[in-house]
Amino acid sequence: MPGPAVDSQLDLTGGRGGNLTIVTKTSSFSAPRGVPDYLPPGSAEFVAVRDGLVATARLAGYGHVELPVFEETALFARGVGESTDVVSKEMWTFADRNGESFTLRPEGTAGVMRAVIQHGLDRGQLPVKLCYAGPFFRYERPQKGRYRQLQQVGVEAIGIDDPALDAEVIALADAGFRGLGLDGFRLEITSLGDETCRPQYRELLQDFLFELPLDEETRRRAQINPLRVLDDKRPEIKEMTAGAPLMIDHLSESAKAHFEQVLGHLEALGIPYVVNPRMVRGLDYYTKTTFEFVHDGLGAQSGIGGGGRYDGLMAELGGQPLSGIGFGIGVDRTVLALDAEGKSAVDGPRIQVFGVPLGDVAKQRLVVIAAELRKAGIRTDLAYGGRGMKGAMKAADKSGARLALVLGDREVAGGEIGLKDLSTGEQRQIPLDEAVAQVVETLAGGQN
Ligand code: HAM
Repeated sequence: MPGPAVDSQLDLTGGRGGNLTIVTKTSSFSAPRGVPDYLPPGSAEFVAVRDGLVATARLAGYGHVELPVFEETALFARGVGESTDVVSKEMWTFADRNGESFTLRPEGTAGVMRAVIQHGLDRGQLPVKLCYAGPFFRYERPQKGRYRQLQQVGVEAIGIDDPALDAEVIALADAGFRGLGLDGFRLEITSLGDETCRPQYRELLQDFLFELPLDEETRRRAQINPLRVLDDKRPEIKEMTAGAPLMIDHLSESAKAHFEQVLGHLEALGIPYVVNPRMVRGLDYYTKTTFEFVHDGLGAQSGIGGGGRYDGLMAELGGQPLSGIGFGIGVDRTVLALDAEGKSAVDGPRIQVFGVPLGDVAKQRLVVIAAELRKAGIRTDLAYGGRGMKGAMKAADKSGARLALVLGDREVAGGEIGLKDLSTGEQRQIPLDEAVAQVVETLAGGQN
């Protein structure tokens, strides 16, 4: 295939040279590969899911944080872990004009911890409960449910290590999904232990792995982060590691008690779970409680949300040795899961009432009526641009509105307006000065 037509190449390195060039195409543009656009009508579903999840977190006192979309690269390398795919293969990293390395955030937890430490939030009331929503960036191979710009809603509860708080965080995710109408998912949970048992388990697992005929790279991974080898998707490695020792069988008394208390809270809350002792998360900071929400209607990208506790992260990033727990829910995948269940989180149609003006005087009047209806909380649109009756009615039908207000110049003089029910086609004349009240009443009387 011939490349794009190039009409200029700009040096964006401030004259320092280097390999950063921008190719200006003379042909049309498209979004970068794996980066979705959110357009109507589907974008309404996206917003309803995102806002629904955030609203659930608000109910438990999580305050909103809006953080930078890019941070110093070292924050993610230290926080998320250099041996993870996220850091070693998937980061969008760039040098700024001073040659400093920055990275588009691949996840939210490290940035939240950086902000908590920087602004001393951990010196106040604990736990610090924070909630965020927005785009994250991972250079992954794009496919359905896996994007290079992905959207998450996340929460973090920082500074208190209490199994009841673990249960709260998990329950919030569960309630968030159920509040949207989802029910075809399951909660998988395990404990990854803590500093009282993880180091011993790590050695045990390494002893096991080093006995296996592993290739050079896998052996190196076993050296740096042996747990990650259990996450290897290759069948031969899966087979070899089938009998590997599992963290859950080697928890210390305190870590075990912590995990059992979390499960006890989940049972009391009536939240079903499956213990999955082979769960390996893609980020290195997890300790103790670790969980994933899995939906079977999504194919390969089945994780709709995940999270866990992170004992060492704050200290690793230069803060106090405080623990925290949180989750990140994939908004894109939650939208796909709803779709797979044939459900929608959107409350009502985009437009409830559509105005059809026939003439300039009528238009002026309908513009005012539309503003009044919107003030009353009714989604209202108008036919603009002097369309004829036929074109305007077609637009009304397309809008999804239940009612149309049809007004001609002559009717303005007569003080009347047509109120048409677009589902039945029935139209009646009503007094013009009662239009707003009657529309409100009609919509309140039936489903809108
Ligand atoms: P994560 O499991 O890496 O965790 O991501 C959370 C969720 O984001 C996933 O369950 C998935 O639904 C969604 N997601 C991840 N990558 C993609 C992608 N390429 N395309 C679409 N959706 C994706 C975290 O990010 C942690 N920060 C969560 C956390 C918060 N743990 C403790 N606190």
